[in-house]
Amino acid sequence: MKETNQPVSTVNSLLAAIGETGRDAKRGGYSRPVYSSAEITLREWFIAEAQGRGLEVSTDANGIIWAWWDLPGSAKDAASRKGSLVTGSHLDSVPGGGAFDGPLGVASALAAFDVLAAREGSGDLHRHRALALTVFPEEEGSRFGVACLGSRLLTGAIEPAKALNLRDANGDSFADIATANGLDPALMGRDEAALALIGDFIELHVEQGRGLNTEEFTDAAGRGPAVAIGNSILGHGRWRLSFSGQGNHAGTTLMTDRADPMIAAAQLVLKVRDIATAQPAARATVGRLEPVPGGTNVIASRVDLWLDVRHPDDATTAMLVEKIHGQAQKIAAFEGCSALLTEESLSGTVNFDAALGASLAKSVHRLIPGAPLLPTGAGHDAGVLASEVPTGMLYVRNPSGISHSPEEYVEHDDADAGVAALADALEDLL
Ligand code: GLV
Ligand code: MN
Ligand code: MN
Repeated sequence: MKETNQPVSTVNSLLAAIGETGRDAKRGGYSRPVYSSAEITLREWFIAEAQGRGLEVSTDANGIIWAWWDLPGSAKDAASRKGSLVTGSHLDSVPGGGAFDGPLGVASALAAFDVLAAREGSGDLHRHRALALTVFPEEEGSRFGVACLGSRLLTGAIEPAKALNLRDANGDSFADIATANGLDPALMGRDEAALALIGDFIELHVEQGRGLNTEEFTDAAGRGPAVAIGNSILGHGRWRLSFSGQGNHAGTTLMTDRADPMIAAAQLVLKVRDIATAQPAARATVGRLEPVPGGTNVIASRVDLWLDVRHPDDATTAMLVEKIHGQAQKIAAFEGCSALLTEESLSGTVNFDAALGASLAKSVHRLIPGAPLLPTGAGHDAGVLASEVPTGMLYVRNPSGISHSPEEYVEHDDADAGVAALADALEDLL
């Protein structure tokens, strides 16, 4: 909790309330895959918090939760909610992730609502439109492989048939898991009515790099500003690369008689590093590798590895993947194996809406004059929604810049500053 004697703020106490949910004793940090018991507990927590604030909560056909703060006296229907201001983030996590990636944006949305409701109650806020707080499912894609699955379904960026056929590590389909969670697969997909509700979308998020701590922005004590305004998201995609060989016995198969896909995969991982290092601004990662069947005394028959490639120029991303694919074919042939590349998702570089960005900057600069504009290498639902509606983001300082790790961190004062900035930015847009 807060290091000082001050009372714990709303955002920090909200985060503390979910601090034990989805803890992963084996990996460290949190594992909160979409529709796991941990993520469902968090969804229920959000719904209870929103309903406790008098917001009307519903879950749409794609599993996105909406909590409505309607205009006083309004009909609470689609017509009166058209073009609303929407803010939110996600509650699912990567395996062994940190406490803030996603939940910080959701908790900050609730805390910012409290600030705005108090201002409206005291007559200091006169709104012209409704506000909705949202939670998007499967932002990380850590269960079904495709990141931002909820916003992709909402916008039609993924075909529902493709989404419904995705399978998790247990072989369960997204269709079955969605059905078990009360959704109707037949209704999933692009939702014009839901999109029409969004006038502007703002996502507050933990900063996932050291952008706010660079010398350019830090003060004499080496401390950067608490908040930044997002301006772009790096283009990124995911590919599955399957090396197939001959499964066999680890003791009886001579080294010269093997067609071992693990040897091919190992060489490819190093090539991925070399290819990305040779291309300025590129990032390429193999963070997941699965030998089949996966036994200590078994030469694998197949190794699946997942490739994450990012670059500001989409054509360069495509070129990098082609190069990696070419290397995979060459290595596989040499090892007596075969290689198959499958694209799982692709998002081009996104520049956030300039007018909305200017409005966010104006609001945030009243509180934090040094708040910079920051690009990010991380993907977000705000990036997917940007093809349909004006979107913008606020990032809250992360002292080490470490993210997708249990060490991801936000100081309490910075979390409070994020809420203050979000509340003012929302007020100016309401
Ligand atoms: C999500 O955080 C991503 O950038 O993959
Ligand atoms: Mn993330
Ligand atoms: Mn996130």
